[in-house]
Amino acid sequence: MTAPVLEIHLSDSDAADALHRDVRIGLSADPKWLPPKWFYDARGSELFEQITMLPEYYPTRTERELLRRSAEEIADRIVVQGAVVDTLVELGSGSSEKTRLLLDALIANGSLRRFVPLDVSESALRGAMVAVAREYPGLAVHGVVGDFTQHLELLPAGQGGRRLVAFLGGTIGNLLPAERAGFVTALRAVLDPGELLLLGAGLVTDPAVMVPAYDDGAGVTAEFNRNVLRVLNRELGADFEVDVFDHVAVWDATHEWIEMRLRARRAMTVRLPRVGMTVHYAEGEEMRTEVSGKFRREGLGAELADAGFADHAWWTDPDDRFALVLAAAA
Ligand code: SAH
Ligand code: TRP
Repeated sequence: MTAPVLEIHLSDSDAADALHRDVRIGLSADPKWLPPKWFYDARGSELFEQITMLPEYYPTRTERELLRRSAEEIADRIVVQGAVVDTLVELGSGSSEKTRLLLDALIANGSLRRFVPLDVSESALRGAMVAVAREYPGLAVHGVVGDFTQHLELLPAGQGGRRLVAFLGGTIGNLLPAERAGFVTALRAVLDPGELLLLGAGLVTDPAVMVPAYDDGAGVTAEFNRNVLRVLNRELGADFEVDVFDHVAVWDATHEWIEMRLRARRAMTVRLPRVGMTVHYAEGEEMRTEVSGKFRREGLGAELADAGFADHAWWTDPDDRFALVLAAAA
């Protein structure tokens, strides 16, 4: 077994600069907002893993079932297209739990040599790398701590063969539309023609199904949402009273996204010394912490085509709640 390699493209000081910038912009806006990547410190990544096991959170098990059913077909289709895939890149890889289904199918097809998970969460990445390296002794594991909205050009090239880039979990929906367009274009730009994208995306379905997935009965999602305030308290010396914020999840039918917010139960003044800010919250004020966009096949297909991804192949679950789409850089 080759020892796993870990590359760090987000130094602590880069991350601190980015957090300071995001907080300055987001907390001086009206309404206030924060970008979602700051949920994922070690505790946030762990809470997310708990979310994936909740009965209400259908996306993970739906995507896992889709991968179980389709991984072989996906691998076969890649071979039919004449691509020798030697590297599986995974963006926002987290625990890479479902990814094993893809690794198995690509290894069975004979050409996979390397796995390159990329995540902002170093703790989640290290955990996944150790487990995958142990379970797949023949596979080189090369982890990258980085931001997929900034560091795509730092991804290692294929080793003679092509790369398949997996972006699972519906994380694409956590980007705002303009960010998403920038991301898909930037991803296309770092790929060679014929390199592949496997995208997992939530589809628009019944709000009675979608909303509870982001507002579970056990309150795990609420804790996850509030975790961003704990991160700000720790990293910025802020004094958010975390438990005075309520978790809110609503379906926005206009934008077709679930919006997560934190609502101040009473008026509050919060000091954030390391960014030199004092921020006021009115009673009942809501701050946006995340969107989770849901897609329609035509819309998502058009976005991929506009960015230069062709040859789309789709797999969906029987209830049409989640889609996997395989596309090739044209
Ligand atoms: N792919 C996993 C995890 C999804 S949760 C699954 O399907 O279950 C989203 C993951 O993306 C987290 O691991 C989080 O740390 C990571 N992430 C969020 N924003 C990111 C960014 N800007 N750059 C890189 N990783 C990011
Ligand atoms: N990518 C996940 C999703 O959109 C992230 C997520 C799940 C999430 N539950 C959440 C983010 C709750 C914030 C709050 O499904």
